[in-house]
Amino acid sequence: MSEIQNNTVLSGVQPSGDLHIGNYLGAIKNFVNMQKDYNCFFCIVDLHAITVKQDPNKLKRNTLEVAATYIASGIDPNESVIFNQSSVPAHAELAWIFNCVTRMGWLSRMTQFKDKAGKDKENASSGLFIYPNLMAADILVYKATHVPVGNDQKQHLELTRDIAQKFNREFNCENFFPIPEPIIDENISRIMSLKDANQKMSKSDLSEYSRISLLDDSDAIRKKIKKAKTADTVMPEKIEEILKLSEVHNLLNIYSGFSGIDKQILIEQYKGKNFSNFKSDLSDILVEQMKPITSEIKKLMQDKGYLLKILLDGQNKANKVAQKTINDVYDLVGLLRNET
Ligand code: TYM
Repeated sequence: MSEIQNNTVLSGVQPSGDLHIGNYLGAIKNFVNMQKDYNCFFCIVDLHAITVKQDPNKLKRNTLEVAATYIASGIDPNESVIFNQSSVPAHAELAWIFNCVTRMGWLSRMTQFKDKAGKDKENASSGLFIYPNLMAADILVYKATHVPVGNDQKQHLELTRDIAQKFNREFNCENFFPIPEPIIDENISRIMSLKDANQKMSKSDLSEYSRISLLDDSDAIRKKIKKAKTADTVMPEKIEEILKLSEVHNLLNIYSGFSGIDKQILIEQYKGKNFSNFKSDLSDILVEQMKPITSEIKKLMQDKGYLLKILLDGQNKANKVAQKTINDVYDLVGLLRNET
């Protein structure tokens, strides 16, 4: 059986539209940082997206847009493998095996299913319920050891670890699957809504003012930051006080995430002042950092042929690795295959 490589990264983003700075800070920026030191697979998880209703034409466009976003953010297609999930059948095949490994009780505890299904659980797709098994398959089909994600994926990662352990135990193949480590930067792994810091910034929030989209122009960014909720006080001096003002803390995290300046230094700079200077500087930083990425995404979206070529190349590379794992899995599980 193949050896575990201890430096493989896999992560993914759903092509469900309107990527925002939460996706960027919580996940994509980390992908870029990791690509030099790890063997990286960055997936556009289209099969995950269809667990809720999608417009087929928009889904195809959004898939290209995530590919464009990866590249515009600094993922180098010559260094990392960029592909869409449905083009590598082994993801869905391994997910089926995991459907038979995971216990119903484990899935019932997933908070994201409860959040997404809402009150109308009966009407949620069964795909939404077994979604974490597909996510585990995405990771383990490459025997990934490290998974950069935002905080909302932590529970799914814990489940992935449980699945890997149960599989290894059940099929007597110690170390076949690695036990992957989540890579989560606590400060920026949970960027909250600009309107209500009790909600995470999300693609599906009905209000555009809740998020800064990666396609927003400078005017939109400034307008949204100007309108973002803060507090009726000045910037407190102590982090303990700021933690009580969750909207302010969220903006501070965004500022620190984009500027690379430590939060404590930012607090020293703005303490005792009202929030207008802070907001205007934050807008400047966001505009400066986002503008090149936004315009590159837009430019790449004009060149569909190039994006399709990157995805085809990624799909070929990903299939080679994934096919080997699924062959070994079928053998371990006892599924007969006629070698040709
Ligand atoms: P998705 O598409 O919802 O989000 C993509 C990535 O962005 C992170 N993220 C955030 N980080 C900080 N603050 C936020 N407000 C915020 N919103 C989203 C997410 O944590 C994620 O890292 N199930 C995954 C996709 C997936 C996946 C995988 C990830 C499928 N298979 C395998 C890693 C490995 C999801 O729905 O992400």
